[in-house]
Amino acid sequence: MKILLTGASGILGTRLLRVLQASGITFRALIHKTPLAIEGVETVKGDLNDREVLHLATQGIDTVVHLAAVTHSNCESDYLNINWEGCRNLHGACVRNGVQRFIFMSSRAAGLFGGPYSISKQKAEEFVMQGDIPWVILRPSEVYGPGSPDAINQLIRWIKNFKFVPIVGDGQYKLSPVFIDDVIPAFVEVILKPNITREVFTFCGPEEITFRKLVERLSKVLKVRPIKLFIPASLMKMAVNISVTLGINLLTKDQVARLMSEKKGDNKNSQRLLNYNPRTLEEGLQSFD
Ligand SMILES: NC(=O)c1ccc[n+]([C@@H]2O[C@H](COP(=O)([O-])OP(=O)(O)OC[C@H]3O[C@@H](n4cnc5c(N)ncnc54)[C@H](OP(=O)(O)O)[C@@H]3O)[C@@H](O)[C@H]2O)c1
Repeated sequence: MKILLTGASGILGTRLLRVLQASGITFRALIHKTPLAIEGVETVKGDLNDREVLHLATQGIDTVVHLAAVTHSNCESDYLNINWEGCRNLHGACVRNGVQRFIFMSSRAAGLFGGPYSISKQKAEEFVMQGDIPWVILRPSEVYGPGSPDAINQLIRWIKNFKFVPIVGDGQYKLSPVFIDDVIPAFVEVILKPNITREVFTFCGPEEITFRKLVERLSKVLKVRPIKLFIPASLMKMAVNISVTLGINLLTKDQVARLMSEKKGDNKNSQRLLNYNPRTLEEGLQSFD
C-alpha cells in the first residue's frame, strides 16, 4: 500500500506521519509552505489549487489521506478555496490516477451553521461521498494535547495565566475535547484496513461538556479559580473584527460561530468498528504540561 498524506506538516499530520513511518508504511507527503519536521520522507511540494502538482503527487498512490486544510483564516474565502475547491482538485487527480481509497479529514464542526470553515468541510464531505472513489470520512472534535496550539490548548493557557476567562454567550454550547494520542491510533487503524470504506467516523472525547463546565473542569485540574466573564456573542464578534483590523491575534473571525454551533455525530461507529476508547479530560490533562 502506498499512501499520500496531505497536510503532513500540520499538527495532526506530523503526529500521524511519525506513527505511519514507525509502522514501516510507504508514503509520500504533500507539503505546502511549512517544511516537514521529519526526515526520510518522499515529499511533493505544492498547493491544493495546483492541479499539475496534485497529478504528480497522486501517481502510483493507492490511498490518499487528505488532512490539508485552512483551519484559521481571516480571509473567509480561503476556507472554500482550499478546503472545498482544493479537495475537489485533489479528488480529480485521484480519479485520473486510479487511487483506490480517499480518506477525508473533515471535522465534527462540519455543517451549514458554523461559519465558512464548517461550511467548507460540509461541502467537501458531500463531494467526496458522492464521488466514485471508495471513501472514508473522519470527523474529530476539538483535539488537544502536547504540541497543539489549538483552541482547547489556548483555553488551558488562558486559564493558567489570567484571573478571568471570557465566555461567549451563556456558555451552554457543547464541546467534546479529545486527546491527540487517542485519535491518531484510530486514524492509523482506518488507514491500515483497506476494507473500511463508505464509513463516517466521529472521534469525540468520552463526553460532551458545555463550554462553561469545561472552564470549571479545567480550572479545577489547574487548581485556579478564574472569574467567568460572560460576553454577548454579538459583542465578542465585534471585538474580534476590531482586533483583526488592528492586527491583534485574538480569534479568527469565524471562530465564535464555529464554537457555538451544534456539532454532529457521536463515537458509536468509531467504537463499533475501531479500537477507539478516548480518555477522560482529566486523564488527558495529566498526560502533558
Ligand atoms: N486539530 C483539530 O482540533 C482538528 C479538529 C477537527 C478537524 N481537524 C482537521 O484535521 C486536519 C488537520 O488539522 P491540523 O490541526 O493538523 O491543522 P494545521 O496544523 O493547520 O495543518 C493544516 C495543514 O494543511 C496544509 N495546507 C494549508 N493550506 C494548504 C494548501 N493551500 N495546499 C496544501 N496544503 C495546505 C498546511 O500547510 P502549511 O502550514 O504549509 O500551509 C498544514 O500542513 C484539517 O483538515 C482540520 O480541519 C482538526
